[in-house]
Amino acid sequence: MLIEATNIYKKYRMRGHVIPVLQGLQCRVAAGESLAITGKSGAGKSTLLHILGGLDRPDHQSGPVCVAGADLYGVSGAKRTRLRARKIGFVFQSYHLLPELDVLDNVMLPARALATGRKQMRSRALGLLDAVGMADRAGHTPVELSGGEQQRVAIARALMNDPRVILADEPTGNLDDETGGQVLDLLFGLVREHDYALVLVTHNDQVAGCCNRHLHLENGVLVGT
Ligand SMILES: Nc1ncnc2c1ncn2[C@@H]1O[C@H](COP(=O)(O)OP(=O)(O)OP(=O)(O)O)[C@@H](O)[C@H]1O
Ligand SMILES: [Mg+2]
Repeated sequence: MLIEATNIYKKYRMRGHVIPVLQGLQCRVAAGESLAITGKSGAGKSTLLHILGGLDRPDHQSGPVCVAGADLYGVSGAKRTRLRARKIGFVFQSYHLLPELDVLDNVMLPARALATGRKQMRSRALGLLDAVGMADRAGHTPVELSGGEQQRVAIARALMNDPRVILADEPTGNLDDETGGQVLDLLFGLVREHDYALVLVTHNDQVAGCCNRHLHLENGVLVGT
């Protein structure tokens, strides 16, 4: 299993209120497998992806969150940062490209954490931009791109360090159906080609149906659909 999260609990405290979000959730995803997660707004989908991505620590009574065999929260912060850079690619609904960097520098950004040589970084980033159909826009800045183009660049960035796991939080939520379909075709194609494990959060049941498995986040756990 590339992702193995056991008994995950997460609650938030807000001005004396406790909001239980995840309540003993289990999640397992194998290499080459895509898992869609749906659930109503506020169900905890983003919270779960952040926990799987090493960005948000689950509550202390939780079991381990293992990605590619490493226990993400059982290691030091520095080691977790390295694991995240090496093993996990994150794609956000709102792309999160850095506006002051051009497309090529945005794609190369994750490699900085790994001290990869500049020349090697550049050729890999250009190869990825080619794979997502954006090679001719390498020198442009994000504001010069449409939403779908920005998301393709964000996908290239997520793949920069050749991760094992791709976590995508409503990656087509801001795109029209046709553009969203193209972005998803691209993502699914790359998952098949490289045997990534993909976890895709979506509001769209049709999109969810394109994944190998579809689970619904409800009352803090994942249930079959
Ligand atoms: N940092 C935080 N502090 C307090 N509460 C939080 C925090 N982050 C999330 N929450 C709460 O946890 C719950 C789950 O939020 P989350 O963002 O995971 O939902 P979601 O399923 O991704 O929703 P959406 O579909 O709207 O994106 C919500 O009630 C939210 O208000
Ligand atoms: Mg969310």
